[in-house]
Amino acid sequence: MKKLNVGIIGAGFMGKAHVVGYSNMPKLFWPAHAVPVMKTVCDIDPQIAAEAKDRFGFEKSVTDWRDIVNDPDIDVVSVCTPNDTHAEISIAAIKAGKHVLCEKPLASTLKAAKDMADAAEKVPNVITMSAYQYRRVPAVVLAKRFVDEGKLGNILNIRCVYLQSWSADPNSPLSWRFQKDIAGAGTLGDIGSHIIDIAQYMAGDIDEVVSMLKTYIPQRPIQEGGVDLLGTVKLNADAKKAPVDVEDEVSCLVKFKNGAIGSLEATRNAWGRNNYLAVEIHGTKGSILFNYERLNELQVCFADDPEHFRGFKTVHTGPAHYYGPATWNIPGMNIGYGELKAIEIFDFITAIVENKQPSTHFGVGYGIEKVCEAIKISANNSKWEKVK
Ligand SMILES: NC(=O)c1ccc[n+]([C@@H]2O[C@H](COP(=O)([O-])OP(=O)(O)OC[C@H]3O[C@@H](n4cnc5c(N)ncnc54)[C@H](O)[C@@H]3O)[C@@H](O)[C@H]2O)c1
Repeated sequence: MKKLNVGIIGAGFMGKAHVVGYSNMPKLFWPAHAVPVMKTVCDIDPQIAAEAKDRFGFEKSVTDWRDIVNDPDIDVVSVCTPNDTHAEISIAAIKAGKHVLCEKPLASTLKAAKDMADAAEKVPNVITMSAYQYRRVPAVVLAKRFVDEGKLGNILNIRCVYLQSWSADPNSPLSWRFQKDIAGAGTLGDIGSHIIDIAQYMAGDIDEVVSMLKTYIPQRPIQEGGVDLLGTVKLNADAKKAPVDVEDEVSCLVKFKNGAIGSLEATRNAWGRNNYLAVEIHGTKGSILFNYERLNELQVCFADDPEHFRGFKTVHTGPAHYYGPATWNIPGMNIGYGELKAIEIFDFITAIVENKQPSTHFGVGYGIEKVCEAIKISANNSKWEKVK
C-alpha cells in the first residue's frame, strides 16, 4: 500500500480538521489510493505544537514550518495557518516539490494569491488544492448534477448566503480574523469566499458585481495569543479595546458570464444562524435549495410535477449519492464536518495519485480572490465592477 507522509502547519481549528480528514479517509474510502502517515506537525506556539503531536498521533512536532517544507521525507503539506502566511509557506512547499492543500482564502492579498497560482502553474507535477470543502458535500454534488443534467433548465437566479453568529457579541475578542494585515479581509474572505466558490461551481464564472461592505462593531477587546477562538471566549466589557479594520457583512448582486443573475450575502453577526450556508437556485424547469445546517438533505422542486404535487421535496443523501458508498451504508445515518474533511482529503490524495489537479486547485482559489477584489472595489465606488 502506497503511503504519503503528511506535514501539517498550524495546529488550531483547521489543523485538527485536517488531521481528522487524513486519519479517517482510509477508514471510509477503502481501498485507499494511498494511506496518509501523520509525520510532523508544526505550530509557532511550542505548547500547541507539543500537544498536537500527542493528541493527533504525529511522530514529531516542530515550531518552524521550514522544518516541514525542507524535510525530504514529507510528501504532502497542509497549510492551516492564518491567511497572511499562506503564500510564503505554500510557495516554498511547491518549490520543494511537496503537494499542498492550503486553507482558504488562498491568501490575504490578491498579489499573494496570484503568486501562489503562478508558482503552482510552474510545477505541474505538484498538486495544489484550496480547501473549499463545501462543494464536496454529497447534497451539493447532487445539486450540481441536477444543474449539469439540465433538470433545472436554464439557471435564472442563484442566491447564496453564509450566515453565522459567533462574532455578533461585541465582547468576542479581536482575534486575527478582525485584523486586515493578517486576515486580508473580514467576512468576505472568511466565509463569503465559500459562497463565491459554490456560486461559480454551480453557474460558472461571475462577470460583474455591485456590493456593500459594512462593519457593525468597530472595536473589540484585545485577546492574548494567536489562536482564534471564534467567539467561544468573551472578554470583560472593560477590557482594553482596539479597532477592527475589516468588514462584518458583505452583500452583493452578481451577474454571471452565462447570463444568470444572483446575490451573495455573508455575515458573522446573524443571531440564530450558526453555519447557515444556503444556496437556492431557480431554473426554467425547477428549483433546488441546500442549507449546510441540514447537510444531508437537498430540497428539490420540478416544474413538470403535476400541479397538485408540485413543491419542494427532500432527498436524503446516502449510499446512492456521490461519495455515499464510502461513508455510511444506510441513508439517514448522515455525515458531518469530520466526514466532509475526509472527503476533501480523498479528493486531494486521489489527485496526487492520478497526477491530475483537483477542481479547487490554486488557480480556482485565485479566481475567487479576483471576485473578492471586485466586490471590495465596487463597495468603495458604489458602482458595478467587472471581475478582471
Ligand atoms: N475551510 C474552512 O471551512 C475553514 C474553517 C476555518 C478556518 N479556515 C482557514 O484555516 C486557516 C486557519 O484558521 P483556524 O481557524 O484554524 O485558525 P486558528 O487560530 O484556530 O489556528 C491557527 C494556528 O496557526 C498557528 N500559527 C500562526 N502562525 C503560524 C506560523 N507562522 N507557523 C506555524 N503556525 C502558525 C497558530 O498558533 C494557531 O495555532 C485560515 O486560513 C482560515 O481562514 C478554513
